[in-house]
Amino acid sequence: MTHAAVPESNLYDPFDTGVQDDPYPVYESLRAAHPVYWAPPSNTWVLSRHADVEAAPLDPGTYSSASGIFPTPAGMEMTELFLPMIMTDPPRHSQLRALVSRGFTARRIASVEPAVMAIATELVEGFVQAGACDLVAELAGPLPAMVIADLLGIPREDLAQFRQWSSLLVQADPVRDQTGAGLAAAASLYEYFSGFLAQRRKEPRNDLISALVGAEVDGQRLTEEELLGFCLLLLVAGHETTTNLLANSMVILARHPAARERLARHPELHPGAVEELLRFDSPVQGLSRTLTRDVTIHGITMPAGDTVLLLFGSANRDERVFPAADRFDIDRGPERHLAFGRGIHFCLGAALTRLEARAALEVLLRTCPDWEVDEDRSGRLRYGPIRGYLALPMHWLPH
Ligand code: HEM
Repeated sequence: MTHAAVPESNLYDPFDTGVQDDPYPVYESLRAAHPVYWAPPSNTWVLSRHADVEAAPLDPGTYSSASGIFPTPAGMEMTELFLPMIMTDPPRHSQLRALVSRGFTARRIASVEPAVMAIATELVEGFVQAGACDLVAELAGPLPAMVIADLLGIPREDLAQFRQWSSLLVQADPVRDQTGAGLAAAASLYEYFSGFLAQRRKEPRNDLISALVGAEVDGQRLTEEELLGFCLLLLVAGHETTTNLLANSMVILARHPAARERLARHPELHPGAVEELLRFDSPVQGLSRTLTRDVTIHGITMPAGDTVLLLFGSANRDERVFPAADRFDIDRGPERHLAFGRGIHFCLGAALTRLEARAALEVLLRTCPDWEVDEDRSGRLRYGPIRGYLALPMHWLPH
């Protein structure tokens, strides 16, 4: 397909390692000159301005999630896992969301706060004496994995195996990793969850899985496939995203020592700082939709059936909404950031994420507030527009 009205260039490719290292200059060019951009490398339209990226998910009838939400490099067949709800349109989406939301009430999240704080403390105590750590391996990875495992009701003795599979699954790179390690891990997780679901059917407990097994939508139980999909969705949506937020945050705070010092002295500033960290370097830089009809924006028509990548990460740096957007400012109060999306698919785990980020910040700033990141030895995640680290060596300065 050709898109004659649009310059054919390789200005933006979410799978380009240079773009992944620093996507913000390219976003600026897109917002300024190509707010509706056709990206040949991933066969997709790209929206980059805040107003456009915000409007699209508010119109799920036009911007459908049912054909998948992860961009794929052109010419690559990706065996996408089916994830219920997040890859579903209304009316089914509304039914599923109503059901799963019961597991994420404000009360339930508030009730896990002491456990989240205890896990963060235990993990930090495990490495603080050494004076150095790989943040991803020792805090940013295990914290969300342990919290989700607890929510789902996974026994502690299965945790190590569970974490290994879930890391393989979420870190599988569709471009480089052609070994199938990610899919093999998904198969192992399916098998594990099948046994787990059968057990909870027989003996329900007070955990999210038992609630899902017993729940009915319009008089119907969820199918086995939907139940398994939910388990994987919560893992994929809730594990690595949080890992990446924590890792990105520690890099930003290492580069902004004055902000970090203020945060160490003023814990009441932490909630606002977490929002700014989410805005400034969003773990989910973009997700896709498929058009159900032709759409014209800024004079360019995107035809029905095409995919559109919504660049949340670019919207969050749009000067039209965030003055001096490239400046990290913990006093900003960036209420309109799109790091958790918008509309009916707005992140179900937002409150949990905020809690985990506050817990990690609080414990680190209390126990070892002066850190440096060894950026040369760090390993950036190479998974399309998902932004984060596979490894992040850090060390502490005496204070
Ligand atoms: C949806 C980001 C953590 C569960 C979303 C969406 C975004 C997002 C952008 C919108 C998807 C779309 O519009 O297609 C993030 C970020 C996180 C995070 C940046 C952490 C930094 C979590 C956690 C959980 C979670 C901890 C659960 C344990 C979900 C679910 C959905 C979702 C279930 C789908 C909601 C729906 O389709 O109605 N997330 N998320 N997320 N997130 Fe998160």
